[in-house]
Amino acid sequence: MNRPVLDVVRGAVLPRPPIWIMRQAGRYLPEYRAVRTKAGSFLQLCYNPVLAAEVSLQPLKRFDLDAAIVFSDILVIPDALGQKVRFEEGEGPVLEAIEDGLGIGALSLEGVLAHLEPVCETINRVAERLTPAQTMIGFCGAPWTVATYMIGGRGSADQAAARRFSLTRPAEMAALRDILVEASALYLAAQVRAGAHVIQIFESWALNLDEEMFRQEVIEPTVRLISRLHQLVPNVPVIGFPRGAAGMIAEYVRATGVDMVGLDYAMPLNFARTHIAPLAGVQGNLDPLRLVVGGTAMKDRCEEIISAFEGVPHIFNLGHGIVPQTPVDHVSELVELVKGSGEGM
Ligand code: CP3
Repeated sequence: MNRPVLDVVRGAVLPRPPIWIMRQAGRYLPEYRAVRTKAGSFLQLCYNPVLAAEVSLQPLKRFDLDAAIVFSDILVIPDALGQKVRFEEGEGPVLEAIEDGLGIGALSLEGVLAHLEPVCETINRVAERLTPAQTMIGFCGAPWTVATYMIGGRGSADQAAARRFSLTRPAEMAALRDILVEASALYLAAQVRAGAHVIQIFESWALNLDEEMFRQEVIEPTVRLISRLHQLVPNVPVIGFPRGAAGMIAEYVRATGVDMVGLDYAMPLNFARTHIAPLAGVQGNLDPLRLVVGGTAMKDRCEEIISAFEGVPHIFNLGHGIVPQTPVDHVSELVELVKGSGEGM
């Protein structure tokens, strides 16, 4: 039995695209909120393989999705390196911001794999419960995106703290990139050994960078991360999601050699079809708000996306993560729509 998501990442063209949804396990599901309350803190949930596996599988019980993604977070990496992370209600992640070389010197690669072992056990448990047609996706944040939280101490609209750090402390920034590349590669390799078939690298903050900084902070460490990963586990296919890469996306795809690239919802379909699809498979790219609104706002765009990528390797997904306000019924409708899209077309 083939696994459609894995096959398409490897270059197969199917009559209708397989589908999974970024952040598919999360607060829009009442059963997620129940487990989340039981677990205590968000990180306790991430590090509890029994509960994290349950939560990873929740969306697959409700919807006919083609992949599971392990329930965890991109910020378990700084946590594992020794920079404590908290998730505050209504505020998101909070870290003690790294301000200089001292903060970077305090990070340690030594305990990373032991700290992240529970996430690998979650993968193991989820992978065992998948059907032979479902794909197990492992993930990490890209070094730059993770660094923006480590340096800024929290999310920000423009990542100014990290951009300034990159310009004013190039040596410390290079040291941080090295640590993140190595920690992420070890972590991803462990995820593959635990049962992940495909890896997605979330570069959620590829926007707001000039081309020089984009090359230095996004492309260069991603190239090294993928080559180190392939040294540890040859051939595992990789999806890169450089959200907001805009005019740099083709260079990102060529330089990193990702098998598939996630398209954010601002990426025009014609542009992607002409300039990106010849370089790699494409994943995306419905605006998550169209899923919130539903009806024709969702359906019409969905059909446009599917027909734009006919004949090329395409995985249907959103152009960014699903939001908590999303009605569960709209998700069922979306999945049915995508699954039925081969009929009559
Ligand atoms: O896709 C999945 O179902 C797997 C789980 C997953 C989570 N975070 C769970 C989560 C994945 C793949 C992520 C990735 C992630 N985390 C990214 C990259 C993707 C993106 O959305 O850009 C980023 C930037 C983070 C960092 C992060 N984690 C933030 C900024 C926040 C707070 C904002 C928010 O969405 O709540 C989180 C918390 C978080 N990660 C939640 C979940 C389900 C909500 C926390 C809760 O349940 O209390």
